[in-house]
Amino acid sequence: MRDFVFHNPTKIIFGLGREAEIGSELAKAGVHKLLFVYGKLSIKQSGLYDRVIDSLKRANIEFIPFGGVSSNPILSHVRQGIALAKAERVDALLAVGGGSVIDESKTIAVGVLSNDDIWQYFIGKKVTAALPVYTILTLAATGSEMNGNAVVTNESTQQKFSIGSSFVYPRVSILNPALTCSVPPDYTAYAAVDAIAHVIEAYFTSESRPGLQNRLVESIIHTVIDTTENILNDPDNVEARGEFMWAATLALNGLTTSGVGQYGFPNHMLEHALSAIYNIPHGAGLAIIIPAWMRWYLKTNSNQFDHFAKIIFSESTGTAGINALEQWLSSIGAPIRLANAGIPVTDIPLIVDNAFSIASLWGVDAVYTRQTISAILHLAV
Ligand code: NZQ
Ligand code: ZN
Repeated sequence: MRDFVFHNPTKIIFGLGREAEIGSELAKAGVHKLLFVYGKLSIKQSGLYDRVIDSLKRANIEFIPFGGVSSNPILSHVRQGIALAKAERVDALLAVGGGSVIDESKTIAVGVLSNDDIWQYFIGKKVTAALPVYTILTLAATGSEMNGNAVVTNESTQQKFSIGSSFVYPRVSILNPALTCSVPPDYTAYAAVDAIAHVIEAYFTSESRPGLQNRLVESIIHTVIDTTENILNDPDNVEARGEFMWAATLALNGLTTSGVGQYGFPNHMLEHALSAIYNIPHGAGLAIIIPAWMRWYLKTNSNQFDHFAKIIFSESTGTAGINALEQWLSSIGAPIRLANAGIPVTDIPLIVDNAFSIASLWGVDAVYTRQTISAILHLAV
């Protein structure tokens, strides 16, 4: 085990109907007025919007609704949210939705307390303060409900960049698995890919691989695979939705990477270029990138790939394990080649430029050179 600090301050409230407690949680924390951030349609269609408002009213919490967050949230909408939150002098943010809504809320929470343009924080400025963020999760995938990350696309430059800060961990996140039963099969599949992606980045690239951390990762992958299949067969299976939800939260809350030393996030670096340019769902982009990256990286850590193949798919070689993963991704309806997402091979130089700019920002451009990125993308053709 390498040295580590694990400090995750997010309180999780898990269970059926628990979103009714949001008003009392906010009141307990002394919140008076909040920006209520949500997406396009889903929370109004499901009736969740009205239930949240009931809970806020019962607790005498004033709120300013701010809807319209897009999947892959965009900078111009973030800026509108910051302006509104400043004008209304809110003292907290409530995000009700998936990762996009939570990420946009975290970003607004930073912008409200800053006089700098918010994009500065995505290109290197350090976050030093943020308003408190509370969440009710409706799509389990990103882990944003229990981590300090936020990803936003600058739509005028096609840059999808992130901030990572201890200031933006949600204070409280409410996880009711029943709220995710309406997530359609395609987004369920993309969510599964994302949760698996979050644990395999360090699993294959970290300096150290303690057995405990390996087994935590493998348990999350097994759980995601089993529950995804159950959910796709029976979308209202709340037990499976619940296990999936908690697995996705644990996949990116710092648990599985504690003690593993340094590690990379290369699949995400490459995927963010795809969703920046083509606005495809993050999990769909990952399903295209992961098998290609694995085939490129296989020789660098072949023992771990052999181990993965054996434990996850009962296969005897790393290559067979990658093939089995790719086949599983395809079986749940995820794209596994650039063409499956309508991306022409002639666009590879454009994607290379975009991904290389992220590699430079993350300081990994010596390994992920333009040539290397191009070689990986050609394995996704
Ligand atoms: O806008 P609405 O109408 O709510 O529809 C959403 C959206 O179209 C819909 N949806 C959400 N909950 C639903 C539902 N539909 C039916 N029933 C429900 N209960 O699902 C669509 C996708 O939602 P979105 O929030 O975009 O999905 P996800 O949670 O996968 O978030 C993706 C974003 O998170 C970023 C991604 O890059 C992407 O921008 N990520 C954030 C991370 C983090 N903060 O730690 C890490 C990840 O690696 C990732 O990069
Ligand atoms: Zn992800």
